[in-house]
Amino acid sequence: MNGRGLIVAAVLLVLSGRQAECSDPRIITSSPDGPDGEILKCNLTDHSFQIAGHQWFKGHKIVHEDKDGSHITTYNITEVNVESSGQYTCKFLTVPDLIGVINVTVPPSVLAYKKTEHGNEGDTGVMTCKSNSYPFVEQWMWYRSSEDGSIQPLVNGTDERYYIKSTGNKTELRIHQLDIEKDQGEYICNGSNVLGTTGATVALRVRSRLAALWPFLGIVAEVIILVTIIFIYEKRRKPDEAPEGRGNLFDEDGGSAPLKSNAAANHETVRQRNSS
Ligand SMILES: *[C@@H]1O[C@H](CO)[C@@H](O)[C@H](O)[C@H]1NC(C)=O
Ligand SMILES: *[C@@H]1O[C@H](CO)[C@@H](O)[C@H](O)[C@H]1NC(C)=O
Ligand SMILES: *[C@@H]1O[C@H](CO)[C@@H](O)[C@H](O)[C@H]1NC(C)=O
Ligand SMILES: *[C@@H]1O[C@H](CO)[C@@H](O)[C@H](O)[C@H]1NC(C)=O
Ligand SMILES: *[C@@H]1O[C@H](CO)[C@@H](O)[C@H](O)[C@H]1NC(C)=O
Ligand SMILES: *[C@@H]1O[C@H](CO)[C@@H](O)[C@H](O)[C@H]1NC(C)=O
Repeated sequence: MNGRGLIVAAVLLVLSGRQAECSDPRIITSSPDGPDGEILKCNLTDHSFQIAGHQWFKGHKIVHEDKDGSHITTYNITEVNVESSGQYTCKFLTVPDLIGVINVTVPPSVLAYKKTEHGNEGDTGVMTCKSNSYPFVEQWMWYRSSEDGSIQPLVNGTDERYYIKSTGNKTELRIHQLDIEKDQGEYICNGSNVLGTTGATVALRVRSRLAALWPFLGIVAEVIILVTIIFIYEKRRKPDEAPEGRGNLFDEDGGSAPLKSNAAANHETVRQRNSS
């Protein structure tokens, strides 16, 4: 009766998909902090089951599978670190399946998306930190680090300017209406779980509106200089270019100009004579 109840409970657990949340009481699990080092172990103490094999999951992903009939199954995670941290499940392929859960836990590993964020005056500044470790961060905190070394916590919604959005993996601080004087500086995001707190620093640089225009002005200046250079070049090129036709013209000019001036001079003398 009792055994049947347990089986029904196990079946219900599997059916409801909540299998990753608690171990079968007949399975002794050892976490990697135990005497076995970085080896995860499940020991099925009830030897009345026929075992067709084992499966190991990390989260919902299968990481190992075998067709072994042993009552003990192990999985080597090599090292306890941020990458290996997670919730592991060993599954005995019995009827019904029996599972054991082992949590490989580490303190949060907080990283800033970008160590320096830039924002324009009047715009919204966004700073983001994440932690990919298990267990997830229970509480995220943001602090403003002042030049005098003091640290003030930032409260969500303050002045309708500071907004904090957090999930277990990620936190985002938004500052609306950026002000160069008030907002430029260093910010700290701290994430905590049961094992501890770690933090990361993000520097926020606020550019003035004018500074935001500089790249544009630079392009305009470049275009003006380029156009000027092309214009001058074209102007100076025209006389030099002197195709053959132009050369002949010069010769003609050379020949005719003195004639013309002579003619003008003659005309002048004629006029002078006439007038006198
Ligand atoms: C498995 O569990 C049984 C019962 O608690 C114990 O006697 C046995 O030593 C364990 N085996 C290992 C390898 O831990
Ligand atoms: C676990 O894996 C590491 C690295 O692959 C290896 O050095 C170590 O000997 C393994 N431990 C066992 C018990 O197999
Ligand atoms: C593993 O963590 C979950 C919550 O994430 C908890 O419900 C469960 O009891 C833990 N299991 C063990 C064996 O510590
Ligand atoms: C901050 O406040 C906004 C609403 O103003 C809310 O949506 C958000 O979840 C809050 N964040 C935290 C970390 O409480
Ligand atoms: C954390 O990220 C993982 C994927 O990287 C996702 O499966 C999980 O749901 C996230 N957890 C939370 C609490 O956001
Ligand atoms: C934030 O975390 C760091 C460790 O990374 C710690 O030194 C510091 O005291 C924490 N700050 C607060 C206010 O908890």
